[in-house]
Amino acid sequence: MSEAQESLELSEAQIAVHWREEDYIYPPAPFIAQANMTDPHIYERFGLEHFPECFKEYADLLTWSQYWHTTLDTSDAPCWKWFVGGKINASYNCVDRHLAQYKNKAAIVYVPEPENEPHVAITYHELYVRVNEMAALLRDFAGIKAGDRITIHMPMVPELPVTMLACARLGAIHSVVFGGFSGQSCGERIADSGSRVLITVAGRDYFVDEVLQDFAGKRVPPVPMPAEAPLFLMYTSGTTGRPKGCQHSIGGYLAYVAGTAKFVQDIHPEDVYWCMADIGWITGHSYIVYGPLALAATSVMYEGVPTYPDAGRAWRIAERLDVNIFHTAPTTIRMLRKAGPDEPPKYNYHFKHMTTVGEPIEPEVWLWYHKVVGKGQAVIVDTWWQTETGGFLCSTMPALQPMKPGSAGPAVPGIHPVIYDENGHEIPAGSGKAGNICIRNPWPGAFQTIWGDRERYVATYYAKYCQNKDSKDWRDWPYFCGDGAMQAQDGYYRILGRVDDVINVAGHRLGTKELESASLTVQEIAEAAVVPVVDELRGRVPDMYVSLKPGYTPGKEVEQKVVHAIETIIGPIARPKHVYIVPDMPKTRSGKIMRRVLAAISNTMNTGDVTTLANPEVVEDIRKMVQGEGVVVTKEGPEDLKTFGEER
Ligand code: WTA
Repeated sequence: MSEAQESLELSEAQIAVHWREEDYIYPPAPFIAQANMTDPHIYERFGLEHFPECFKEYADLLTWSQYWHTTLDTSDAPCWKWFVGGKINASYNCVDRHLAQYKNKAAIVYVPEPENEPHVAITYHELYVRVNEMAALLRDFAGIKAGDRITIHMPMVPELPVTMLACARLGAIHSVVFGGFSGQSCGERIADSGSRVLITVAGRDYFVDEVLQDFAGKRVPPVPMPAEAPLFLMYTSGTTGRPKGCQHSIGGYLAYVAGTAKFVQDIHPEDVYWCMADIGWITGHSYIVYGPLALAATSVMYEGVPTYPDAGRAWRIAERLDVNIFHTAPTTIRMLRKAGPDEPPKYNYHFKHMTTVGEPIEPEVWLWYHKVVGKGQAVIVDTWWQTETGGFLCSTMPALQPMKPGSAGPAVPGIHPVIYDENGHEIPAGSGKAGNICIRNPWPGAFQTIWGDRERYVATYYAKYCQNKDSKDWRDWPYFCGDGAMQAQDGYYRILGRVDDVINVAGHRLGTKELESASLTVQEIAEAAVVPVVDELRGRVPDMYVSLKPGYTPGKEVEQKVVHAIETIIGPIARPKHVYIVPDMPKTRSGKIMRRVLAAISNTMNTGDVTTLANPEVVEDIRKMVQGEGVVVTKEGPEDLKTFGEER
């Protein structure tokens, strides 16, 4: 190949995909027999030729104070308005409307951290009473009215969903800041949102419990709000600088999470559903609070971590509460697989359905989740989505399609993805070639804008592939997700990680996930994270960080096994420069591995602020392992390394 040809190939190089296609696993018959969605025509009903009217089906899961007249208004593109003309209240839909049939049924079951403290079941009636009292306090004591913003900074306690629903009752906009964030991060978000009130657990100006006594037994009528009014803001990081307040609507968002919770998660009112996420993240908003409660399910929330006091805690809770739908993230699954690989069979629980969310799940880990946690009886949905998207984008429909470990599955009904290359050319559907995944069409769960910064909203999510910025036609505004992905021949999507996380080795773009997945095929490995290191010859080369399962000792042999696995599964191009066996990975409080910190260490760059990590102490241990003892002068790294692996 001539030099010119070669450089052309390199400049056009797409993200390479080496991942082997896994075998299908079919949903068991008893699951299909009881599933909410068994009609294969759902994809036709939600086809582009029926867009946007198809989403009436989701809107009709809700109770409207005034029915809407326009499904989708695009006049302010790309700020979409759904179900225009409608009036609705989210608190009414998640609480009041269930009272006639389910007032004595548990809405929320709260499991406190100390195991000797009993769990608390809050019935729909009790939830109704508490939400009303809290709404009365906010309205009459704090002077809150529709449209005001309220910041909530709380750990996983029942007062958190109660306060969210109380805000929603008044038409006020809540902004929940994850309890693990510092006062400073919380302050930035309060300022950005222009919140009038902060509700928190640590000593502030008033004690809510005391003030609440004055509002005992008070009732507050739910305020009918325009469908497109904001329900909440959810701040997401991702880039440095000002936090992005993703603004979600009442009608569109609630319809979308109710629809996806019903059909993708198969939630019925009689199910006991447990999502282990924190309510401070979008997963908790959509799939602990709003989705399940809109469907009158019993939603379990717990305080603490799954591995304390031991790795059996999750399964004891599942057995005790008879949980049948279980939802967690790959990081937790890896953690449980590492700390207690043989725990699940010791407990008598039965999951019909399990969800995974938040990052690509390695097939090895998926198979353990299926076989050991699900006891081979549960379906698994691998749901790919984002804070911005409100609800699921890709997943199998659990009774309609087989599962394929490591793939998120096809798009969910009504979502129409397209993969573009860097130059805006469509990568042929089902070609197995990777590129930037986008969504062709708006959908009701999509966020409306970045609070107070429409320009940034357009620039970050729409500008890249928009053909005509003056257009009012949604077809001109594909939504840019920021993830690398490929679509296999069967239509299933595999997410390769954030496009910023791709490592370019000699012009060969490697998805971080496939290297990590290859490492996890090694028996001893519990977790793996790969980062780019500057290399004079090849531009970037991978550095691999791994942690071991208990009972294994670090050593050259394990390192070599990792190198060997990568070379055989991916190829010599991906051979890591180093393999570091670390005691633990630096993680965000939501459990995501902070590759940014590892990349900084590998390249002797400044690790930046690590105080918000779940385990900041591990950073120094890893730094010493990589850079040696003593003070190391950090240097400015190249641009791509500064943004590599930004935590989300
Ligand atoms: C990643 C979490 C692969 C992806 C709901 C996305 C996933 C980012 C998956 C959003 C999945 C989420 N498979 N990758 N099933 N789910 N991601 O905003 O990179 O915290 O863009 O929302 O997580 O993270 P966020």
